Amino acid sequence: MDLEILNPLPESEIGDWSRALAMTLLFDSGENDLAPLEERWRSRWTPERAYAVRDRGRVVATLLTDARTMTVPGPGGGTVALPVDALTGVSVAATHHRRGLLTRMLTSSLAAAKDRGDPCSVLVAAEWPIYGRFGYGPAVRYADYVYRPRGRGAHVAACGRGTVRQVEPAELLEVAPALFERARRRRAGQISRTDAWWGGFLGVTMARIGPRKHWLLREGADGPDGLLGWRTTRDFELDGAYASIEVESFVAAGGDAERDHWNYHPERAVIEEVHLGMRSVDEPARFLMADGRALRQTFTGDFAWVRLLDVPAALSARGWAGSDRLVLEVVDDHPGAPAAGRFALDATPDGAACTPTTASADLTLSVRALGAVYLGGHSLAVVAAGGEVDEHTAGAVRRLDALLATALAPWCQTGF
Ligand SMILES: CC(C)(COP(=O)(O)OP(=O)(O)OC[C@H]1O[C@@H](n2cnc3c(N)ncnc32)[C@H](O)[C@@H]1OP(=O)(O)O)[C@@H](O)C(=O)NCCC(=O)NCCS
Repeated sequence: MDLEILNPLPESEIGDWSRALAMTLLFDSGENDLAPLEERWRSRWTPERAYAVRDRGRVVATLLTDARTMTVPGPGGGTVALPVDALTGVSVAATHHRRGLLTRMLTSSLAAAKDRGDPCSVLVAAEWPIYGRFGYGPAVRYADYVYRPRGRGAHVAACGRGTVRQVEPAELLEVAPALFERARRRRAGQISRTDAWWGGFLGVTMARIGPRKHWLLREGADGPDGLLGWRTTRDFELDGAYASIEVESFVAAGGDAERDHWNYHPERAVIEEVHLGMRSVDEPARFLMADGRALRQTFTGDFAWVRLLDVPAALSARGWAGSDRLVLEVVDDHPGAPAAGRFALDATPDGAACTPTTASADLTLSVRALGAVYLGGHSLAVVAAGGEVDEHTAGAVRRLDALLATALAPWCQTGF
């Protein structure tokens, strides 16, 4: 007999729910205090958006979404914030895999998001093969870097127009949410952070998870515009071994703040390596250095995945790099096919209209392919290698790529 999908899920279920999730995703070594994790789930819990499955009393499957906004390319090279359904907390215990539990929870959750009017759903995938079948495409990539600031030509001079000082988390909490809000508008793909998120991340209103960090705050003429969180990963020794640090948080609302934080004031003299995770794939910092090779990209991977639910809403919210008109046939093979249809896209640099049409299509593409290119992170010509793009009018792929183009790669520096 089919197990019952429980939704809505009251707050009283959070304890069992978060312990089940921690066990399946292997956060629960038996030594960790799970209370801080539970507190975080509580801060983003909406019963209507929470799902679970119980078998003989035990929670064996979990899923949660919350309301966020994501920046998407806007008119004139800027960005606009689009409401999105952020999917998280997905787990199915190994004892219950391949029995359709994820499919049933996610189908119901996507239908609810569509009914609410969310233009798209976003997630960070634990593994690449899981979410394509549900219509998600990999839209935002990230990169890890190692910077060797002591090398010849590696130094980045401070811009000289602001101050950088060490601050404690409680002071940072006062300014960080507004600062990040400014910073995230510089690129498409950035997910909003709630005040509760910041309180937990900084360890002020909730216990911090993970090692303690040192914080730097940069202030310019318009107030706080940069922050940096770092910790030492290898100590400085007098035998010639220089230190390594890890930068876990690097937020800059403008070019001056970026430059001043690459300056790594004041500890730079004894640092051999700076490890930076989850940065953009097209990090501009190397152009601040006489020797751009002082910054080495060590890894790239997929991060945020996008699943379009309302194609006209998503495409008309986005800015475009030129003017053109194309008819797109979007194929959605998921139950309920929330994104399927044929749409006329009338794009201009100042905005777009996207409406259902019966005119013949210039292009047929899967909802996955459209999700992968929506933020400008991949070209359709590349995504077409997956076999889910059919060109009916010669040159239509190139024309859509020209419209989708953005100057900067999308980036999401927030796990969710
Ligand atoms: C990924 C996971 C949630 C899938 O749950 P599930 O209930 O077993 O999935 P379903 O039974 O609904 O499977 C749906 C389909 O997806 C496929 N699938 C499921 N997990 C997959 C995976 N990891 N890789 C490839 N395909 C997968 C199934 O084979 C099935 O396809 P089929 O019907 O053609 O056989 C579960 O394996 C899990 O909890 N894994 C560990 C945690 C995790 O990765 N969470 C994601 C965090 S974002």
